Amino acid sequence: MDEISLRIMTRELCHQLYRDWGNDPSIYMDMSLFTAYKYDENAVNKYFETKQNPSRILFAIMKSGKPIGELQLKDINQTSRECTLSIHLQNDTVKGKGYGTRAEQLAIQYAFEVLNMVAVNADTIIKNTRSQHVLEKVGFKFIREEYGFKYYRLER
Ligand SMILES: CC(C)(COP(=O)(O)OP(=O)(O)OC[C@H]1O[C@@H](n2cnc3c(N)ncnc32)[C@H](O)[C@@H]1OP(=O)(O)O)[C@@H](O)C(=O)NCCC(=O)NCCS
Repeated sequence: MDEISLRIMTRELCHQLYRDWGNDPSIYMDMSLFTAYKYDENAVNKYFETKQNPSRILFAIMKSGKPIGELQLKDINQTSRECTLSIHLQNDTVKGKGYGTRAEQLAIQYAFEVLNMVAVNADTIIKNTRSQHVLEKVGFKFIREEYGFKYYRLER
């Protein structure tokens, strides 16, 4: 497999990523809200800007020099030393090839070794069994199910 790496997202990487983006139905609890994604330069600029804050790190998942997804460590709490992982690959052409698993492993390593976190949390809607499987594969433990979500946690 080509090497997967995480790079801090830049504005340019964000545009590269979203030019070929596809929304995934597995993250929609209410499918009436699902629409095909349309690239909009201003919307991507705004999206990128709203993600720049000290409690969040937005990564580009890189393969062969190109962004193939995004991964966030968010709700970074320096007191309790925990954060929450979220991930979305660019479109169906890059899913199911092991890249998401590898990206999550790298993010966990970053959270523990670079950010000095003691726990990483994650959640998925109930129907997203692929995401649940990958979370469990990289070591997350199922914690609880509530209001349509399944919650997971990985402690160092
Ligand atoms: C979830 C996501 C990050 C996983 O990354 P990926 O690269 O597609 O996944 P991988 O190829 O690394 O691994 C997929 C695993 O799930 C399994 N799988 C595939 N479809 C599945 C399903 N419907 N139910 C359960 N497991 C499933 C595969 O068999 C594989 O497991 P294995 O390696 O044990 O055989 C990616 O598919 C994605 O971005 N999906 C859309 C957004 C999303 O759901 N984000 C998570 C929000 S909580």
